[in-house]
Amino acid sequence: MHSTSASREVSAVPVESGEMSFLDRYLAVRQTSMQLCAPLTMEDHSLQSMPDASPAKWHLAHTTWFFETFVLSQFAADYRPFQAEFRNLFNSYYNAVGDRPLRALRHVLSRPGLDEVHAYRDYIDEAIVHLLSFDPDPKSIELTTLGINHEQQHQELIVTDVKNGLWTNPLRPSYRPAAEGHEPASALAAASPLEWRKFAGGVYSVGAEDDAFMFDNEGPRHEVFLEPFRLASRLTTNAEYLEFMRAGGYSQAELWLSDGWDAVRSNQWSAPLYWEQRDGEWWHYTVEGMEPVAMDEPVCHVSYYEADAFSRWAGARLATEFEWEIAARSCAVAGNLLETGALHPRAVRSGEPLAQMFGDVWEWTGSAYLPYPNFKPAAGAVGEYNGKFMCNQMVLRGGSCATPQSHIRATYRNFFPPHARWQFMGVRLANGNQ
Ligand SMILES: [Fe+2]
Repeated sequence: MHSTSASREVSAVPVESGEMSFLDRYLAVRQTSMQLCAPLTMEDHSLQSMPDASPAKWHLAHTTWFFETFVLSQFAADYRPFQAEFRNLFNSYYNAVGDRPLRALRHVLSRPGLDEVHAYRDYIDEAIVHLLSFDPDPKSIELTTLGINHEQQHQELIVTDVKNGLWTNPLRPSYRPAAEGHEPASALAAASPLEWRKFAGGVYSVGAEDDAFMFDNEGPRHEVFLEPFRLASRLTTNAEYLEFMRAGGYSQAELWLSDGWDAVRSNQWSAPLYWEQRDGEWWHYTVEGMEPVAMDEPVCHVSYYEADAFSRWAGARLATEFEWEIAARSCAVAGNLLETGALHPRAVRSGEPLAQMFGDVWEWTGSAYLPYPNFKPAAGAVGEYNGKFMCNQMVLRGGSCATPQSHIRATYRNFFPPHARWQFMGVRLANGNQ
């Protein structure tokens, strides 16, 4: 049951337009989740290769649960749940909602079956359309908007969790077939030379304005002082990262943070996730199966520890999240995002002064994920959305090839623990010597 229409160049998902009504946008986002699951077999839908990842079927159900729990149960008069037990079954981490199954055991939920989860989605969509068609409470619109953005986050997780699950299979099955006529990228191509962009020091305002949708962790807007800094004109490439590997980067303790060195040794890391050597050449797993590593593409699937060690080896460092945000403000929110259908980072093709700021790979920053001054989580259960994770995680910026375009912006703060590698995560250097 593989889709034959998907390709690296053709959009696999509907492109949202600014002209869309709110309900059309809701329905388009819901449809995108289904389309991302279209190439999966029934068995693929239940894959969970590690506790951090969730089965695609669970993502389809949990995103639906979010609308049922936070919108319909609160605002739809006489609402009857699709299945009362789902309130706990598909809860992810909201203590205020109640108990939930162990995260690592989401793959045991063979029931409800996929057909029933699809029926659950249809039931909720109908109820949301009904609720929002008749003079809805502004708070219900606000929570539906949060639900739309929540579902977009899970769309990215569907891609990365499925990629990890399929890769775990020794057969390395692809998520979708390679597009007809698609040639694997050249292993020898060179990227455009890296240049350094200068930014003046001073006091800057950072964080989101309150006038459009933002997650609570993007505010309040506040002032920060920055020293002058320089940012690489593009992402770090596979060629550059391979130089680090060949120079013994993974065997020199002095390049690594203590926790990073422990992670290298205990996990026996010697290359980015999904890389393997075949006859002396590096290959990596992509959504279209194993391919030779293209040297001009951005390095991807590296942890914070690897990004940090690489930048130290390169005589540079990672940008802080505020340096990144100030630089990104001058860039259009465009790039190799979910809508290109590539689901894989691409080499720089344009002569933009600051390329690849949005899309391709999330960029690790050197900033710990902390609350902004005067941050207050929202009241009620949705206050658990972001705030309670502000410990032991690093901030990533800019979105990836699996992030919907309408979901990303310069102020957006993603966060993962420093050892995580299965998201589309990469490196942009700051303050280098060259
Ligand atoms: Fe969630």
